[in-house]
Amino acid sequence: MGALALTLDTLAGLVTRSPDDTVAMGAAFAGMCRAGDVIGLAGTLGAGKTCFVRGLAAGLGVSDLRQVISPTFVLLRHYVGRMVLNHFDAYRLRDAAAMEALGCHEVFDEEAVSVVEWADNVETCLPARTVWVRIAVTGASTRAFSLATRDPSCRDRFSAASAELLPWVEHP
Ligand SMILES: Nc1ncnc2c1ncn2[C@@H]1O[C@H](COP(=O)(O)OP(=O)(O)O)[C@@H](O)[C@H]1O
Ligand SMILES: [Mg+2]
Repeated sequence: MGALALTLDTLAGLVTRSPDDTVAMGAAFAGMCRAGDVIGLAGTLGAGKTCFVRGLAAGLGVSDLRQVISPTFVLLRHYVGRMVLNHFDAYRLRDAAAMEALGCHEVFDEEAVSVVEWADNVETCLPARTVWVRIAVTGASTRAFSLATRDPSCRDRFSAASAELLPWVEHP
């Protein structure tokens, strides 16, 4: 294969075929992340957001993945691996103001990776550098992922690392 033509502007066409496959893709994605990154997950209930977070945690070296569950009642969880993963769930938050009341801006600026489920509920309080991961249910066990960010330097950095995701690109 020649030079990678994937760009994160809209990197679509990523497909997973089982929950474990989504965990594996999340782990690969974690390898592209560094401290200060914010990942916004969008997709319906059961799309696979928490599954993807489990993969992120695995990729960041969190050893007990049983603690990675939808923090629906606890709005924010932290997992400690080789880097900390902050896990928000905005499902029960009314709006971005409620997210801000949680101190999300301070959390996003920590030496950690932060991920937000139901990020579209609180879009206005997410930083421009947010990498959006949109998940669509395409079958009983298949999910289509698309990635996007509006921050140019973030886009360039993730695009440069996008070879990690090639195993999941449907039509490279
Ligand atoms: N390819 C797939 N990736 C992720 N989850 C899948 C996939 N196929 C089926 N599933 C199922 O979809 C559900 C995803 O649940 P979860 O990750 O908690 O979703 P969300 O956090 O988006 O509500 C699980 O029941 C899982 O077994
Ligand atoms: Mg969830």
